[in-house]
Amino acid sequence: MEKLLKEIEKFKLEIAAFNEGDAETFRIKYLGTKGLVKAIMGEMKNVAAENKKQAGQLLNEFKLFTEAKYDELKSSSNNGKKETGSNIDLSLPADPLPLGSRHPISLVKNRIISIFQRLGFAVAEGPEIEDDFHNFTALNLPENHPARDMQDTFYISQNPDWLLRTHTSSVQVREMQKGNLPIRIICPGRVYRNETISARAHCFFHQVEGLYIAENVSFADLKQTLYFFVQEMFGKDVKVRFRPSYFPFTEPSAEMDISCLICGGEGCSVCKKTGWVEILGCGMVHPNVLDNCGIDSNKYTGFAFGMGIERITMLKYQIKDLRLFSENDVRFLKQFTGAV
Ligand code: PHE
Repeated sequence: MEKLLKEIEKFKLEIAAFNEGDAETFRIKYLGTKGLVKAIMGEMKNVAAENKKQAGQLLNEFKLFTEAKYDELKSSSNNGKKETGSNIDLSLPADPLPLGSRHPISLVKNRIISIFQRLGFAVAEGPEIEDDFHNFTALNLPENHPARDMQDTFYISQNPDWLLRTHTSSVQVREMQKGNLPIRIICPGRVYRNETISARAHCFFHQVEGLYIAENVSFADLKQTLYFFVQEMFGKDVKVRFRPSYFPFTEPSAEMDISCLICGGEGCSVCKKTGWVEILGCGMVHPNVLDNCGIDSNKYTGFAFGMGIERITMLKYQIKDLRLFSENDVRFLKQFTGAV
């Protein structure tokens, strides 16, 4: 009995001063199946019968003392993860954040911009609410031109001189008025036309228009610039053709077609069985436009072109309905995750 008392006192001191590890180490050493408390309990069989009751109490008290110490270690050291202040393991890999994707119109717009930037074109931007002069008059669009018709143009009711720009040529006018020649710009942006919404038309869409004005700029420069663009955008195998056309602000004017990317020129519904798809309008800037913007048309010449980003995007990604671009259906948009 005396021996037991001494042992218990000795272990109590040891336990009180325990600092060799965390709560779990303590539990294994003292309270586990092979632990010290169990071992001392085993001593009971050596205690004389008349002392058994007292020894039992002593041992029970020792067990409670040890358990109290264990609880104390557990709560104070937070099970050995003191450094983090919580149970979170900061070394685990994080849950991946769900990433959005760029809109296909933005993807193609950025692509077009970077192609022209490599040719030295700078990006110019302007207001979407324009006045009649910048959208029409300066561009040699006569008073009675159909594009001014209420059916094509959204006018702002407070002021009949204001409208939603129908093309980004208005930005070109603003740049020409600044008079910093030579001018080599592209104008990306949203434009508005009063059209019935369908798979092929919308009341707003996006354009990239380009303008180059310097001395001795020729139609050959225009063609080379656009050949380069098509090659970079659609690859070397795509064929290009120019058709004479008419725009009030260019003379001569042309429209540019590329061989249909969907059927490879064989003829399909997208190219209306012709094998060709129109992608842009272009021409040499009309001298009247230069004069209207304060540029000497005897000294300078220039070319301009304009394309719809939706059309290019539909060809590039084989999208058949224009409305998908503005409906924001996530199932459509997430197909472009990771695209650059
Ligand atoms: N502004 C014309 C349009 O919106 C495109 C164009 C630009 C045509 C420049 C010729 C030259 O349709």
